[in-house]
Amino acid sequence: MPRHSILLVDDTATNRVLQRTVLEAAGYEVEEATTGAEALERLQARPYDLMILDLLLPEMDGFEVLEAWRGLSRPGEMPILVMSALGDEEARIRALRLGASDFLLRPAGRAELMARVAGLLRAKTLQERLDEAFNKLTAMGRASEVHLAELNALGVLLSDPLPSLVEQIRAASRPGRDPDVIAAMERVDGAFRGSVFLANGQRIEVLMDCGAGRGGRVPTYTQPIIGVWKAGDEREAPWVACLLKALEPAVSEVRNLSFCITPGIALASGNYPEEPDSLNAEVVRGFALHWEFVKRMSALNREIEEAFEYTISALSRAAEANDPGVGAHLKRVNAYCRELAEAIGMPPHFVRTIAVQAQLHDVGKIQISMDLLKKPSRLDADEYEVMKAHTWHGAHILGDHPRLQMAASIALNHHEHWDGTGYPRGLRGAEIPLEGRIAKLADVYDALRSERPYKPSMAHRFAIEAIFRGEGRVAPEHFDPELLDALRRIAPRFNEIHEEFAKMNAPDASREEPSGTDPSA
Ligand SMILES: [Fe+2]
Ligand SMILES: [Fe+2]
Repeated sequence: MPRHSILLVDDTATNRVLQRTVLEAAGYEVEEATTGAEALERLQARPYDLMILDLLLPEMDGFEVLEAWRGLSRPGEMPILVMSALGDEEARIRALRLGASDFLLRPAGRAELMARVAGLLRAKTLQERLDEAFNKLTAMGRASEVHLAELNALGVLLSDPLPSLVEQIRAASRPGRDPDVIAAMERVDGAFRGSVFLANGQRIEVLMDCGAGRGGRVPTYTQPIIGVWKAGDEREAPWVACLLKALEPAVSEVRNLSFCITPGIALASGNYPEEPDSLNAEVVRGFALHWEFVKRMSALNREIEEAFEYTISALSRAAEANDPGVGAHLKRVNAYCRELAEAIGMPPHFVRTIAVQAQLHDVGKIQISMDLLKKPSRLDADEYEVMKAHTWHGAHILGDHPRLQMAASIALNHHEHWDGTGYPRGLRGAEIPLEGRIAKLADVYDALRSERPYKPSMAHRFAIEAIFRGEGRVAPEHFDPELLDALRRIAPRFNEIHEEFAKMNAPDASREEPSGTDPSA
């Protein structure tokens, strides 16, 4: 434990010698100043744990030192014991008002001086612990905030939560009191794997295997196990041995540790400048439980998300039963929509949603008769009207659940044209929801590239040309100009996607209903 440092401010040499002797004998580190100005200079050069201040000083007296120091420091940062032969009540009250912590009348006996010094230092330590606990609490709150924001936006943690966790653990300590080493590991197949983060920013992979070959010495547990260890303690204690074994290859010397091990994760911080105690271990436990909570939430959300996505593709496959062979078309439209949404800078949540839900754009065809869907020739006007209703059917099937809002909007709007000539409502420009405009462009590109009973497939270059220059039923006025700009930039990526799917040898009938006005109808 580092020694407490005391600044002794007194102009009388005999006082200084006497007090210094007593204080040093008790193990304190003592520095002296003989004037107020020198005292302030020293206080600004380095921190002290306590100042003992004489009131009667030449030039700048003790009151002025108190006043000046009050302007330079935070209240209560360092306790100040005023010692003076000025015993009147007014002087005492004035000194206390100016920030003195305690007042001792000269001549004071050795025992009284020591008792006051010890009392003030104890109070300072307690205050520091309180500040530290508060810092840790706010740091934990911040860590939760960061992770919850990510969970709220996407439902899952995309980034590695460890660097921000480690940053918050360091921030939770007072400057200079944070651990040099933080190890964070997750249980994978019976062992713990993770990283050690060093104070110099290095991150080293570690493996902790407590089970194999240790003869069942590790107790079974369901509750988090917390502990502290320091050099000199038993190295073979449960968990300590395997923690040290895991850390030592990455850290040349482990001097102390506080740790928390849960059934799923192990978090340890070590090489604190001062020996860690139960408070440090509680902090590690707090962060460990927070991390585990975030991980579980994220895993749970991921499972729900996967189930949701599976249901969506099951629904789109059900629609396909009436219109066989469009499976690869649906997946490609998903992919084109993702590329377009990214290219125009939409937020990750939008990109992710459209990349999953665009495949439901034609779900309404489930209500269109097979005869019409499979008709080898173009539809007549009446048939075309029936076919157009697949947009309404789709929106109706998908309903108004907030999670399927985008799918429903795409189903309804993917045949609207930017110039107002589309269907079913003849919306124009920005009246058409963005997801509908994106799906429209993706759908038309894919329809152009696909073979139909009445037309061959088009090469990428010609499909792009048809969109930008217009050809037959496709006109550039049908599309949002911002999306056309984006397509101009990322057109090669569209071709890549088409080829990737072709390579996967997916059944590529890509048959949409033949229609009289729109290749993607
Ligand atoms: Fe389509
Ligand atoms: Fe459609």
